[in-house]
Amino acid sequence: MSVKSGVHRVVACDCFEPIARCAQNIVNINGFSDVIKVVNKRSDKLTVGSVGCDLERKADLLVAELFDTELIGEGAIGCYRHAAQHLLTSDALLVPSRAKIYCQLVESDSLFSYHQFTDNIEINEHFIIKCPQNVKSCDGSNVLHDIQMNQLKPNEDFIVVSEPEVVFEFEFNNISTLGSKDRKTIEFKTIREVKGPLVLFMWWTTDMDFEGEIVLSCAPFWTYNDSAITSKTIPWRDHWIQAIYYLSANNKRFELKANQTFKVEANRDEYSL
Ligand SMILES: C[S@@+](CC[C@H](N)C(=O)[O-])C[C@H]1O[C@@H](n2cnc3c(N)ncnc32)[C@H](O)[C@@H]1O
Repeated sequence: MSVKSGVHRVVACDCFEPIARCAQNIVNINGFSDVIKVVNKRSDKLTVGSVGCDLERKADLLVAELFDTELIGEGAIGCYRHAAQHLLTSDALLVPSRAKIYCQLVESDSLFSYHQFTDNIEINEHFIIKCPQNVKSCDGSNVLHDIQMNQLKPNEDFIVVSEPEVVFEFEFNNISTLGSKDRKTIEFKTIREVKGPLVLFMWWTTDMDFEGEIVLSCAPFWTYNDSAITSKTIPWRDHWIQAIYYLSANNKRFELKANQTFKVEANRDEYSL
């Protein structure tokens, strides 16, 4: 697309050799080998300079897809930080240009049961697994649980407790948003009374253009508040899905009123939330 739009030089890189080889074949077959150079390297190993380097000069356009369901799990933050510092001009355009990670508070007994062992698990009438006390009192893991959220049914599998809130936001050409760690307190406002276990739903969006007019969104269907967008009509996506973060497994029940503030402390490093 870049070449067809008039770009005179493209350098493509992938650190995974079979993908770089495949990219080179595609470039050759499409007759672009004089304009597109494929380099089998990590981006942070690319060299910039006029003689014998991967890039003759810093690039003014970066197109990349380095995301997983958690957005940052494949190391996008460090790659963008390095690119902004070493590979790009200060006015470079980035596609996508920024991303936001969202969370929504929901109440759900059934989803919480993925996180907490029950007293006894009855396999059949002769075989019952008795859960030891130290397992029952374990707080559980705070690692994400990837899930196809559009397969869940609101008011059946869970009840929405808050509007979605932005947890972390990244501008890929702004190093101040690409630190190796961040911490934020998110204040969710309850939109209804809560009497059960709370879990956090998570997804992300990316702005594909600088103005933010073209948004690639992993938001589940109910967040659009639009009856035309349902689990059947929302485009199927399984490259990135959504995730659940569980609160401590010992927080089985919350008693909250509507319009109450529920604070969650969110932490991230370069690879996980
Ligand atoms: C999330 S995948 C992209 C998948 C692709 N969009 C697709 O749909 O098939 C990321 C790709 O970028 C490569 N990659 C990740 N970080 C890189 C880096 N810093 N430099 C070069 N390649 C990288 C990985 O080897 C992988 O092929």
